[in-house]
Amino acid sequence: MNRTSLRCMECHRSYGDDAPLYKCPVCKGLLEVVYDYSKQKAGIRQKWSARPISVWRYRELLPPIDQFHIVSLGEGGTPLYPVDRIASHLHLDELFLKNEGANPTGSFKDRGMTVGVSKAVALGMRVVACASTGNTSASLAAYGARAGLRCMVLVPEGKVALGKLSQAIVHGAEVVTIDGNFDQALRLVEEICRRFPVYLLNSVNPFRLEGQKTLAFEIWEQLGNVVPDAVVVPVGNAGNISALWSGFTELQQLGLTEKLPRLLGVQAEGAAPLARSFKSGRDDLTPVRNPETVATAIRIGFPVNWRKAIRALRESDGSMVIVSDHEILSAQKLIARGEGVFVEPASAASVAALPHFLEEDVLSSESQVICIATGHGLKDPAAVLSTPQQKRLVAASVESIVESFQLAGS
Ligand code: F0G
Repeated sequence: MNRTSLRCMECHRSYGDDAPLYKCPVCKGLLEVVYDYSKQKAGIRQKWSARPISVWRYRELLPPIDQFHIVSLGEGGTPLYPVDRIASHLHLDELFLKNEGANPTGSFKDRGMTVGVSKAVALGMRVVACASTGNTSASLAAYGARAGLRCMVLVPEGKVALGKLSQAIVHGAEVVTIDGNFDQALRLVEEICRRFPVYLLNSVNPFRLEGQKTLAFEIWEQLGNVVPDAVVVPVGNAGNISALWSGFTELQQLGLTEKLPRLLGVQAEGAAPLARSFKSGRDDLTPVRNPETVATAIRIGFPVNWRKAIRALRESDGSMVIVSDHEILSAQKLIARGEGVFVEPASAASVAALPHFLEEDVLSSESQVICIATGHGLKDPAAVLSTPQQKRLVAASVESIVESFQLAGS
């Protein structure tokens, strides 16, 4: 079986993977899972193609977990849609939407949770926890339920979309809300997990990010074993953009691609600490104290994975932009009406970012681009219903309906 260890991205110290560990005990740096690829190369493509498209199709590149510990709901294998109407609207030759909303709980988090919760089971943990802007808690609650674990969730009061909250509740998670934001909730849950035998499943957990990197493998396979020119991804805590980069670089290390895509991140105007830091070229991050945006999933002022993300952005010759709430909601409508795909506001940020990247010449009309639609629109119907209403109340008669639809004479 493929053995792994954990390595600090800052001081490069190594640690075993058989006890819960989220940060380097010496320098507090973020940890990465390290594999020995040399044994994996032979026949890996054939092995993959013999399995259904899903997260565990790529098990040679995932932490070694005994089959009977694996907690799965059939995650991954999400559709990659060509979105030609949006492409021609923006004068782009080739644009795709990777619909992560098609995962079991409706977001990309399930890719990480199947691996993270399986690791929790393998470690013998009985309790799992997270702080969340919504989707992580929905996903952890479902996978925790599937595994029969106690699940604790900490969320900012009044700032989690209703669909996501109802998912956490229905799956039996113990939900605690705080009069504070996500960043505060994360700090609190990190401390709880340090002091008690509770397994932390935020994206600071390196095993969770291992599951999320399979997004890169799927994109490569769905494009016919090639990587695109660019992948656009909404950024909150910055775990997903970091995971994507490790996925693409692993494909390169295995000799499956020479080319790597540019990673393009997007944040919302009121919650854009990473975009501001990256654009300034500095090596630090100024947190946003009171982040605010309609895209509540990415309403985050201090992205814990910012160092990993900056490295991914630099190595991939990537870039970041900032979009307004208005641009996000317009993009959500464009995707829904133009392509028949309902995504939540944070996901729409990836499409809202395209005109900015084109304007800044980061993208050209010939670029082959993938936008990651991170979560399903039904999770947050309030965001749609808060915009001016498009429905009309009429009398219950054929005449008034005909009149309302202006059918006469058509
Ligand atoms: N899109 C959606 C729909 C999300 O839920 C999140 C993160 C992101 C994008 C950003 O991903 O944090 O890896 O940069 N949601 C987390 C949560 C924070 O608690 O559900 P990231």
